[in-house]
Amino acid sequence: MDDPKPISLVIFGATGDLTRRKLVPALFSLSQKGRLPDNVQIVGVARRSWDHEKFRAVMREGAVQFDEDLFTPDAWEAFAQRLWYSRGDVDHTECYENLKAFLAELESGESNRLYYLATAPDYFPVIVRRLGHHQMHCEDCGWCRLVVEKPFGHDLASAHDLNSAIHEVFDERQVYRIDHYLGKETAQNILFFRFANTIFEPVWNRRYVDHVQITVAESVDVGERAGFYDKTGVLRDMFQNHLLQLLSLVAMEPPASFNADAVRNEKVKVLSAVQPIALADTVRGQYAGYRDLTGVPSNSETPTYAAMKLYINNWRWQGVPFYLRSGKALTRKTTEIIVQFQSPPHVMFDLPADQQMTPNYLSLCIQPDEGIHLTFETKVPDSPLEMRSVDMDFHYRESFSETRLPDAYERLLLDALNGDASLFTRSDEIEIAWKLIDPVIAASASSDAPPLAIYEPGSAGPHEADDFIARDGRMWRLGCGEPGIHCNAC
Ligand code: BG6
Repeated sequence: MDDPKPISLVIFGATGDLTRRKLVPALFSLSQKGRLPDNVQIVGVARRSWDHEKFRAVMREGAVQFDEDLFTPDAWEAFAQRLWYSRGDVDHTECYENLKAFLAELESGESNRLYYLATAPDYFPVIVRRLGHHQMHCEDCGWCRLVVEKPFGHDLASAHDLNSAIHEVFDERQVYRIDHYLGKETAQNILFFRFANTIFEPVWNRRYVDHVQITVAESVDVGERAGFYDKTGVLRDMFQNHLLQLLSLVAMEPPASFNADAVRNEKVKVLSAVQPIALADTVRGQYAGYRDLTGVPSNSETPTYAAMKLYINNWRWQGVPFYLRSGKALTRKTTEIIVQFQSPPHVMFDLPADQQMTPNYLSLCIQPDEGIHLTFETKVPDSPLEMRSVDMDFHYRESFSETRLPDAYERLLLDALNGDASLFTRSDEIEIAWKLIDPVIAASASSDAPPLAIYEPGSAGPHEADDFIARDGRMWRLGCGEPGIHCNAC
């Protein structure tokens, strides 16, 4: 960030939850760490009749709550001087005229701009079109970038339309589509683990890997978002974006360099190689009580849980199943990737009948107990033949105890300010992901689709998901947890 020009970070949707819970706390945290350049000014735009002081006061509450460790009144006062509010309805010309005049005053000369779309998604095309109409997108006086929050469309057609609307005004190189899972430290570490070490990559393929599991389990239910969620469901909310992004990091080929295009080209390649997903390779569930929520029809067929199996048709992964699952109202929150290796081709030990060998598996724990575990078999001391699985552990909290893991938005905001798009999804990536998920959603609405599997809130999900993987002679695994404790089935 050597460019001395001031930067205006304009947040549309400034009175919304995301701004208060995530964006401003992340910016405050960056400023506390000395990473937010002094020349960045933050301008919130929304309809409510707030002024600068009111905006600062509400954001302060968010920082107290969500930046608890870093918050001090003095630091906040210094940071708050960079917060501004410009009132306006994004659907009206006046909003842009006011904003333009305010920015001209604030910037007093040449400046760079980062627009952040944190409104309801219906407004994304409106805002983009109006920014273009008011000539607020041009780069005559500095760079201009656009950050777009999720959801990016609700199917392939709407995502394509949104991409087209954006491209009428902005070039793709100016667009930063957020998937906050890519900003998570541990998700980024997948690439470092794979490509900054030599010992794992030689076995990272169909010759050694039996299968891969990706679990994104949430203990929270749909809460207050029931009305919105019912139109979305877990396939759109979690699979099209977060799970497929994690899959692409695990399965992609090594890029030649760590730059945005090289990384994203490889992600696109691997997603393009995913075989169309058959409905028979999926399980969809809904937690009991979901249909009683306000805003949810009593006959809602929206899944709050799904599991699926998919294959990647390329040289590295041919024939290796990838099992993905995600759901709400489950036992506990955990995001984890398991790479299970093949069993030894021949077992020379004369094992007792009740003893089975557990295959080696590697567990990449994305959250909440961030770390990496390698599970392998050992001989139980002072026994003739008994074996037990043990764990080689790495925990962030032990190895990096001095460093608090940053929130994903810190990294993503900083990257967008720096012009590094590696951790943002490109238009083609988004559309390929929808191409994979749309047919599953369509098929699950057909009359011959199996009924939703109902599961108890607080459980491990529907037993149909266990039966589903068991039919392939496998089981769901979780390797994270307290050091040394295994949970082989959840
Ligand atoms: C969001 C989904 O994208 O991710 C939410 O819309 C979900 O439904 C959330 O709860 C999970 O994010 P995290 O970071 O808490 O795992």
